[in-house]
Amino acid sequence: MIDLDFIRVCRLDELPSVGAARANLDGRIVSIVRAEDGSVHCIDDECTHGRVSLSEGDVSGCTVECWLHGSRFDLRTGHPLSPPATEPVVVHSVKIEGDEVFVALAEEN
Ligand code: FES
Repeated sequence: MIDLDFIRVCRLDELPSVGAARANLDGRIVSIVRAEDGSVHCIDDECTHGRVSLSEGDVSGCTVECWLHGSRFDLRTGHPLSPPATEPVVVHSVKIEGDEVFVALAEEN
């Protein structure tokens, strides 16, 4: 089993009930997103189509929509579900302990 290095990010109640918050984890800018089903996800904050923040996009279901050109990304896989983006965003591991949110950063790729 791989031992991931989890970093405490925030408390659950610091996240919007549905939506995203930007965080800087060891210099990497990520988006912590609470989906409509209450699940919490972490993805790289920068859209893979342009250099804009996905934290500023709309969350619906288990997706976030880039505010600039409308690509929608699956928060579980990072894959774009609609154009113009074609590359997935990196997804990081999340664990919840009590009311604390922890993230383990994925390797750079
Ligand atoms: S910058 Fe995100 S879809 Fe174009």
